[in-house]
Amino acid sequence: MILFKKAAEINDWLLKSKVSGQKIRFIPTMGALHPGHTSLIEASKQAGSISVCSIFVNPAQFNDATDFVNYPTTIEKDIDALEKAVCDVLFLPAVSEMYPAGNGNEKTYNLGYLETVLVGKYRPGHFQGVCLVVHRLLNIIPADDLYLGQKDYQQCMVIKKLVELEKLNTTIHICPTLRETSGLAMSSRNMRLTAEAREQAVKIFETLSYVKNNIKPGDVAALKQTAIDKLTNAGFNVDYVEIATAGNLDLINHWDGNRKLVAVAAAFLGDVRLIDNMLL
Ligand code: PAJ
Repeated sequence: MILFKKAAEINDWLLKSKVSGQKIRFIPTMGALHPGHTSLIEASKQAGSISVCSIFVNPAQFNDATDFVNYPTTIEKDIDALEKAVCDVLFLPAVSEMYPAGNGNEKTYNLGYLETVLVGKYRPGHFQGVCLVVHRLLNIIPADDLYLGQKDYQQCMVIKKLVELEKLNTTIHICPTLRETSGLAMSSRNMRLTAEAREQAVKIFETLSYVKNNIKPGDVAALKQTAIDKLTNAGFNVDYVEIATAGNLDLINHWDGNRKLVAVAAAFLGDVRLIDNMLL
């Protein structure tokens, strides 16, 4: 695996590879890699050509300074995991390399409704920070294909919108959420959970499964409330459990029995915020 730290150097190298007919498959991450991340590398490897992973804990997307400071970093283990996954290129920039003019959000992206609901509502500014960094990364890494995880359902929609707004020539591939055998969605933030909290955390998956198994056409407000109660009783501080249309995240209280839906949840265990979702 070739490691680049400088934007100009990786850009130069990738542009030359493109000229010689290679496609660039890109997997952006914030590191603390787990099998969910490496499943994206594997998906990109199936398509052949050059797989590029980036590791950058992006300060611009943390609306909570403590969350940023506590974000796990395991760079040596990450490099091992990427070598094992036979990733071709790693981009590991410093903050000054990504934001040479400081961290100012000089550009804003018109994300409309998407920024006002769910993660957008509870983490103000977060998706602007995601767009800022992904846009910069895509300027440095001229990706033909971008691999994202369904785990961050709303983020996938936001990045699709970014690609549309900026007319980028990149195809997005959304890969399934990898889970522990317990059902817990793999997440870098799970590293911050105690063994006991990890067991509690499975309740998010169980609650989403409960919603999936019990949804019926008609009123769904009571089902949502039962789900919130289940998490609260299990010791979570719940931001939301919602049922939304899968295509555009309209929150619903009544289901016609036809529209494709997704159940989404965000809740804190102590100071660790966990999110998950399930197509219904
Ligand atoms: P990060 O949380 O490191 O996630 C990197 C990618 O891995 C995202 O596309 C995410 O959806 C995917 N992923 C995380 N957990 C997964 C799981 N259990 N199964 C499958 N895929 C999973 O998301 C970010 O970083 C950042 O916001 C980023 C897009 C890199 C911008 O900074």
